[in-house]
Amino acid sequence: MTQQRTLRVALLGAGSVGSQVARLLLEHSDELADRSGARLELAGILVRDLEAQRDVELPAELLTTQADELIAGADIVIELMGGMEPARTHILAALQSGADVVTGNKALLATHGPELYEAADQVGATVSYEAAVAGAIPIVRPLRDSLAGDRIMRIFGIVNGSTNYILDRMDRDGLSAEEAQQIATDLGYLEADPTLDLEGFDAAQKAAILASLAFHTPVSIDDVYREGIGSVTADMIADAHRAGYVIKLLAVCERMITSSKAPDAGAVTADGDAISVRVYPALISREHPLASVHGGNNAVFVESEAAGPLMFYGAGAGGIQTASAVLGDVVSAARRHIAGGVGVGESTRANLPITPIGQVTTRYHITIEVADQPGVLATVAGILSERGVSVATVEQKAVVDAEGTARLVIGTHSAREDALQATVQALEALDVVEQVSSVLRVEGAA
Ligand code: HSE
Repeated sequence: MTQQRTLRVALLGAGSVGSQVARLLLEHSDELADRSGARLELAGILVRDLEAQRDVELPAELLTTQADELIAGADIVIELMGGMEPARTHILAALQSGADVVTGNKALLATHGPELYEAADQVGATVSYEAAVAGAIPIVRPLRDSLAGDRIMRIFGIVNGSTNYILDRMDRDGLSAEEAQQIATDLGYLEADPTLDLEGFDAAQKAAILASLAFHTPVSIDDVYREGIGSVTADMIADAHRAGYVIKLLAVCERMITSSKAPDAGAVTADGDAISVRVYPALISREHPLASVHGGNNAVFVESEAAGPLMFYGAGAGGIQTASAVLGDVVSAARRHIAGGVGVGESTRANLPITPIGQVTTRYHITIEVADQPGVLATVAGILSERGVSVATVEQKAVVDAEGTARLVIGTHSAREDALQATVQALEALDVVEQVSSVLRVEGAA
């Protein structure tokens, strides 16, 4: 019987995910060795404070504050520290020493991904990051491997659990935004800096990673159009509910093909493609599968040319859940070490142009408060038609106050964002319009 090889694993960070990864590496070592073809020896755990309280009790002799020494001796380095530095420097050092890297650091990948992938390519190592997007849900590997032979047209989904929790409580329990946010805070769902979740940065980082994979194009966080949930009120949620919709913070990554049907779809390459990557609160029909994603869960809907629609659903966060994604990457990295050969790098060959938000087309619901007088509807309709925005539905609510104000909800056919924004400005300038109270995009099939 040949002796099993041992691979040294360095773990950087022992927070809620890192401590669970350490526990599982230690407790499931025989199973992991069987699946990997090598014993995975946890060589050490880099921590900031040797005495800190942790979610899981870890062997004191494994804890260290000496990063360089730990990284230098490792075959696989797991980075779960988060943030830019020193995570970036440690990952580059690991790759330069020939180690494979497993990381869950979405912020780092969405900003410095190409630099890390290039460093990995130079030594034939890999950077794996299943844990960076949608926690436990396998979505990175399906996009990179399972769907590598297909052509992805669109990805849209809920990739931020805390904002989904807030919007879901508002929708299902009638809570105000403040009440729902307070509960999410008390449950520890929001990041230490809650603006990362509430203003859509976390979702935008994940969208950049998904779009890069799906469209074989480097996409950074700066390429992602982003709006958070700050403008979403209980009234908007209630109106959406009555109209058969739910409001979700969506990440949308879309391939835009120019054809005779879509002459204005944006900047194009020789093969006629461009992409759009955006994050915003949007209306989804209550019939759509994403409408039934409740609480802090995530779901990613992928539409590809050959496979058709696919949906990936599950826990988008959580220490133990996310540890599952990390360990899957660790086992893969170990198998590559045993099999030998160079790692498969990131595919960025398509390098498609990224369409500015103004050129993106979607459907909209515009809610306006208007004077309930003869001719107002015709004036409003004229403003839309002059800017090429075609009306699909109009609903007039009962008079909303004693001044004779009525509420109009206008649903549009697909329109360009720049035309829609010009329309909203022109509506706001009308004397008969008291206010444009909300403008929401509509995503997913009706
Ligand atoms: N803040 C993130 C969320 C955690 O709410 O989904 C997982 O990335």
